[in-house]
Amino acid sequence: MPEFKSFIQACRLRVDLQLEQLLPASGPSSKLQAAMRYSIFNGGKRVRPILVYAAAQAVSNNELPADHTAADSIACDIAAAALECIHAYSLIHDDLPAMDNDNLRRGKPTCHIAFDEATAILAGDALQCLAFEALANIKSLAATEKLAMVIALAKASGDKGMVAGQAIDLAAVDNKLALTQLETMHSLKTGALIRASVELGARAAGSATSKQLHHLDAYARAIGLAFQVQDDILDVTASTEVLGKQQGADEALNKPTYVSLLGLTAARAKAQNLHKQALSALETFGEQAEPLRQLSSYIISRAH
Ligand code: IPE
Ligand code: IPE
Ligand code: MG
Ligand code: MG
Ligand code: MG
Repeated sequence: MPEFKSFIQACRLRVDLQLEQLLPASGPSSKLQAAMRYSIFNGGKRVRPILVYAAAQAVSNNELPADHTAADSIACDIAAAALECIHAYSLIHDDLPAMDNDNLRRGKPTCHIAFDEATAILAGDALQCLAFEALANIKSLAATEKLAMVIALAKASGDKGMVAGQAIDLAAVDNKLALTQLETMHSLKTGALIRASVELGARAAGSATSKQLHHLDAYARAIGLAFQVQDDILDVTASTEVLGKQQGADEALNKPTYVSLLGLTAARAKAQNLHKQALSALETFGEQAEPLRQLSSYIISRAH
């Protein structure tokens, strides 16, 4: 466990340094730049970047180099930063009045409150473009591998992934979904980017076999769904202060969630079950997949 803590810390430091490089304070529009930086550097847990590094380690045997200076980015750093850019964009838009209409994110005013709606929309747009620009610019990978990464991230982000999940989520307000529909919605809106994190991490390592990618994807499907199940649970059980976002927001908007459909006990059992599935998907991996195993456990036990 102490090892896992220092692994997480190293990942956070590395991805933040990479994000600093991708997001300079100055640009043609200082307001846009400020809004992008506001939503990236405001205390996210960095779960998707950590998954990128953990997946890379699982297939490469190489420990993550502890130090990262501005000059020595590795492919994983850029993949991790790209995932966080897409994630931050998805949150900025998710919080807009036209979507969840939330005022609080990571304990601070949401982007459209701190700036304005138009700037928030544009900051999201620009973060999305930046993610793909960064991936395409990775120097150390073959073009075919980079292309596979760009395709995986684009699919996971758009109308076959996160955006489709958000559309289903919004259409489902005030409607009772069947459990399978809820599962599809969660797998798309949250699971897709988590799967992409694992795939991009394994591809960034440059040595993943198709068998390894297959097992890692089974792992990622399970934790991707578990992540949103736990998010639904925390919306009911945690405080606004700990969450850094408004507690009870799902219920207030009458959102279909695991908790509203199944109740807390069954939602918790579902998360445990998915954790077990995630671990069994990693059976063929050795010690080097330990951070992935620990992450699965963290995802279903996290407090915010
Ligand atoms: C929140 O994601 C939105 C969901 C997909 C459930 P996180 O819980 O990873 O948010 P941050 O990045 O730590 O704020
Ligand atoms: C958001 O789901 C998933 C995204 C694609 C951003 P939620 O709407 O449940 O996320 P929170 O609770 O606002 O973080
Ligand atoms: Mg939402
Ligand atoms: Mg929301
Ligand atoms: Mg939520």
